[in-house]
Amino acid sequence: MARRKKVYEGKAKILYEGPEPGTLVQYFKDDATAFNAQKKATVEGKGVLNNRLSEFFMKGLTQIGVPNHFIKRINMREQLIRSVEIIPLEVVVRNFAAGSLSARLGIAEGTALPRPIVEFCLKDDALGDPLVSEEHIMAFGWATQQDLDDMVQLALRVNDFLSGMMLAVGIKLVDFKIEVGRLWENDYQRLIVADEISPDSCRLWDIETGQKLDKDVFRRDLGSLSDAYTEVARRLGVLPSNVTHATKPTLIN
Ligand code: TMP
Ligand code: ASP
Repeated sequence: MARRKKVYEGKAKILYEGPEPGTLVQYFKDDATAFNAQKKATVEGKGVLNNRLSEFFMKGLTQIGVPNHFIKRINMREQLIRSVEIIPLEVVVRNFAAGSLSARLGIAEGTALPRPIVEFCLKDDALGDPLVSEEHIMAFGWATQQDLDDMVQLALRVNDFLSGMMLAVGIKLVDFKIEVGRLWENDYQRLIVADEISPDSCRLWDIETGQKLDKDVFRRDLGSLSDAYTEVARRLGVLPSNVTHATKPTLIN
């Protein structure tokens, strides 16, 4: 069997050449990293969960008309995606203060923000993905003013969609990150949502208890990451409710 060509390997995913031009296969690994890979672990089943969850969110975005890279899921760990030119920025949307915003500005975690705040970080591991301003972005040519306007629009639409979807299952969307890619169609380009949307790239808190159901469980050593992600998937109906990580058979009366 011919070996397929690896195009790129990141911390949590691998990209392979796709079956047709303009496509790629995105493989979800079980690797978890935090703080720019200073902290690493393998979390069994994480790749499978994130593949399913990212499929679920991207399909929903397609249904409400938000363009994204997802074409179809191939198997437990892989999905077919459109190949795009990734803009080297992480677009973060925050509804409540947490993480680096709380640390930087001294605002208590969980404080409701007066409106969603959109931030840009430069995708550069060596520099620790620093926060950058629109001035920096345009001066250094990472994106144009039009790109920035389009990215903010996309990010806010994703925010409304994800917030509502999470609220329906008793989860508060505190913040999240998306990546955006340029899709060339003949001489025209448009920006679409790329990479992944999963509990790796969101902060998700149970509305009643405040329990964290996202990668902070790993970053802050709060328990089992796969249990947290399984709970998100179960609530969203992405996994049938009888699929659990239980290793023991369950007695049914
Ligand atoms: P932050 O509070 O660390 O800046 O993170 C804000 C949101 O962005 C949070 O949901 C986690 C997500 N994020 C990533 O997905 N990847 C990253 O590299 C960083 C820094 C944040
Ligand atoms: N994604 C980054 C890393 O893997 C940062 C983080 O999620 O905390 O190191």
